[in-house]
Amino acid sequence: MIIAIDGPTASGKGTVAAGVAKHYGLKRLDTGALYRAVGLAVLDAGGDPAEEAAAIEAAEALDLAAIDEHRIRSSAVGLAASKVASISAVRAVLRRAQRAFAADPAGAVLDGRDIATVICPDADVKLFVTASLEERTRRRLAELQKQGEAISFEDLKAQIAERDERDMKRADSPLYQASDAHLLDTTALSIDAAVAAAVAIIERMRTA
Ligand code: DC
Repeated sequence: MIIAIDGPTASGKGTVAAGVAKHYGLKRLDTGALYRAVGLAVLDAGGDPAEEAAAIEAAEALDLAAIDEHRIRSSAVGLAASKVASISAVRAVLRRAQRAFAADPAGAVLDGRDIATVICPDADVKLFVTASLEERTRRRLAELQKQGEAISFEDLKAQIAERDERDMKRADSPLYQASDAHLLDTTALSIDAAVAAAVAIIERMRTA
């Protein structure tokens, strides 16, 4: 079974993806981590994430097993990720890695922005996870504070809004809800409730 989960930043899609993967014993790919790792590699090399040649080189050199899970989570890397993600040639390189992951006959859970629309259009179940901008800002702020990063609520909210805009308006594989995706709004849901709601949708689809 392939489960495709899309949604904007800090919508809870990663948490839902991890919970669903655990529930069904499936492997999971956080595809945002790939774009983040490419953005980080460009920054580390002193390059500009919006510059094509540098971003493509970093995408081609990406080693999935060597991604620094801690460093890719900063807000600066998030911004860099959304810049490299709007470069088509970068997306083409990363698309291959994502499709290879999804080709495993054992099935998989993938989460990102274009999973249901581009990477796995034939997924068995598609979820579009969202939450209000305020709630997403609160969640991301708590995460960043835990990592010791200081940023104001208003600055972070503006940054998230900027990323949403870039993700939804880019020409190649923009973020949108696939026509056959199920909407899951996690604004008022706890982690357990969000995962339970996702499992309920998946069960409904499996038995339909
Ligand atoms: O989900 P995230 O915040 O870790 O994603 C970081 C950036 O990567 C986001 O701004 C858009 C991009 N992204 C993408 O374009 N396509 C995906 N499938 C996943 C992420």
